Formats: sequence, C-alpha cells, structure tokens
Amino acid sequence: MPVIAARGLTLTIGATTILKGIDLTVAPGETLALLGHSGSGKSSLMAVLSGLERASGGSLAVAGADFAALDEDALALARRGRIGIVLQAFHLLPTMTALENVATPLELAGQADAWTVAARELEAVGLGHRLDHYPAQLSGGEQQRVAIARALAPRPALLFADEPTGNLDGATGAAIVDLLFTRRAEAGATLVLITHDAELAARADRVITLADGHIVADRRAG
Ligand SMILES: Nc1ncnc2c1ncn2[C@@H]1O[C@H](COP(=O)(O)OP(=O)(O)OP(=O)(O)O)[C@@H](O)[C@H]1O
Ligand SMILES: [Mg+2]
Repeated sequence: MPVIAARGLTLTIGATTILKGIDLTVAPGETLALLGHSGSGKSSLMAVLSGLERASGGSLAVAGADFAALDEDALALARRGRIGIVLQAFHLLPTMTALENVATPLELAGQADAWTVAARELEAVGLGHRLDHYPAQLSGGEQQRVAIARALAPRPALLFADEPTGNLDGATGAAIVDLLFTRRAEAGATLVLITHDAELAARADRVITLADGHIVADRRAG
C-alpha cells in the first residue's frame, strides 16, 4: 500500500489556485526530492500532504488514512508521532528553550523518556551546548537544527523537510543531510525533501519537479 496516494489534488486560497491537480503515489521507504522555482507550490504541496493544510479538491490518503474525510482532531491524531515536518520557517515556540521545543511534543504524545530523547536528538544535530537557549538566542541555522531534531525525535514513518539546509553552511548542511538519510534508512521511513540543491536532490530515489502548481517531471534515480 502506498504511504501517499494523491489524485487530482487542488488547493485554492482566496482567489489564488496554488495546486492545480496533483497526482502522486509514494511507496513506503521512498526518498523523494521536490524541485521547482520559487512560487511553484512546493511548500503548499507539502502542507497538504502532511495534513497541515486541507486540499480544496481531489483525494488524499496518507498511511491509509483518508485525509479529506478526517476532521481537525482526527487529523491531528493521525499525524501525531507518524508524520514529522521541518517547515521552511521553523515555527519554534519562542517561549520554550531548544530542549523544551523538542521534548514537549514527545511528552504530549506520552513518551516517558521525552527529555532524555530530546537532549540526545539535539546532541545529534550539534546543539548539545544550546539546550537551554531560547529560539531568539539561536542563529538561523541553529533554529533550523532544533526544528530538525524536533521532527526526528518521534521517529516518524513519514518525514517532510522544506529546504532543511537552507540556512546552513556547506559542512553543517552535509552533516544534517547525512543525519536525515541515516535516520530514514534506520527507520525505513519515507522522506519528502524540498530543495534547491541539485546535489542534495540527487541523493533521493526520485525527483519531482513542480511548475505553476503542476507536476511537470517525475524521474527516478539510476
Ligand atoms: N495563503 C496564501 N494565500 C494566497 N496565495 C498563497 C498563499 N500561500 C501561498 N500562496 C501562493 O502560492 C504560490 C506557491 O507558494 P509556495 O509557498 O507553495 O511556493 P514554493 O514553491 O514553496 O516557493 P519557495 O521556493 O519560494 O519557497 C505562491 O505564488 C504564493 O504566493
Ligand atoms: Mg517554499
């Protein structure tokens, strides 16, 4: 069974139609890079596929759940622990430290060792020395790494990342990408990655190109 099955997905916000009929099937464990010019709809597609935004039309099943039919609460429940998301704007909670940002969702999901796991995840992204810093006290790249730690901590089966290396220097970016791919492999997780970086895209099994709300190319590596 595919982990993502989208047919004719559309997204209209106000007078703007952003996604114009997306057909996409993703198999469990696949890694997928999403390319396209600025404004082509990459972040919007990710928002719909991850259940952050509701499609205006079409059908969408994610991990067997009918995302079009679920109400807000059921959708939140279906996503919790299963879908990890690293957003383009990191959406860290400003009143929480790095450690609290990572640990709180785990604690809410009932994980007993939430604080230990959170600290370990932050160490894995090179932030063991910044656990008690608030987002405003972190650099852009450090905030990005907190967001990545937060997404990885619940060990989601489906991981979305919107330009996860956008704010990182080459060496740090490469280390973070290695971490994403290693974790994906360990967990057999599905990874959907938005990137402008051709080298990063080349690491994915499959590269999808969006233009003006349509998929215009879908090619497999190798
Ligand atoms: N809430 C909204 N209301 C109206 N239009 C929107 C809204 N959100 C996004 N758009 C428009 O939809 C289009 C696609 O936006 P999206 O953020 O998905 O692009 P993107 O491919 O992720 O671009 P980038 O590479 O710059 O991040 C853009 O033209 C944008 O202006
Ligand atoms: Mg975007």
